[in-house]
Amino acid sequence: MRCTAHLIQEHRIILRAVFVLFAMADRAKEGAMPDANDVESLLNFFRRFGDEHHQGKEETVLFPALRNTDVGKTNGPLRQMMFEHDQERSLIEGLENALHTKHPDDFAYYSRRLADVLSNHIYKEDNILFDLVEKTITREDDGRLELDMEKVDRSMAPGLHDELVRDVTRLEWKYIGKVA
Ligand SMILES: [Fe+2]
Ligand SMILES: [Fe+2]
Repeated sequence: MRCTAHLIQEHRIILRAVFVLFAMADRAKEGAMPDANDVESLLNFFRRFGDEHHQGKEETVLFPALRNTDVGKTNGPLRQMMFEHDQERSLIEGLENALHTKHPDDFAYYSRRLADVLSNHIYKEDNILFDLVEKTITREDDGRLELDMEKVDRSMAPGLHDELVRDVTRLEWKYIGKVA
């Protein structure tokens, strides 16, 4: 099943950024705000890669294809995933505000909430939603979805993907001391 493997691969990259966020939350909890430029880089990654690119791909390619299947007809799982995408967007805004007010407790709260929501969301997609997808869609539909996802990849600004991943790698070294 190629289209789910495509999204799982992106989840691995997003989870690396989530671990940086957990580390930043721990520092803030101890009263030390992380460097503002680092937080902006991480927020930029979550917006450009996690949301616009990855969740955009789910919302414009995968979910519409599921709406006509048994997964989409009950609407429960898709509605829940869309709700969580919106929840992540609000938490990113909350974290941006906490960064500007420079209040470590608020920053620790929003960064931990966002990291929890993102990691749970990815767990549910990898282990529940994508299992349903693999049981539901035909091999032919899968091939078409994979082509549509590759089209989204090609629409990304040249070099942006590598630049965003490089940012995550730099932050992993600085906040975790190793690269996943
Ligand atoms: Fe998602
Ligand atoms: Fe996802």
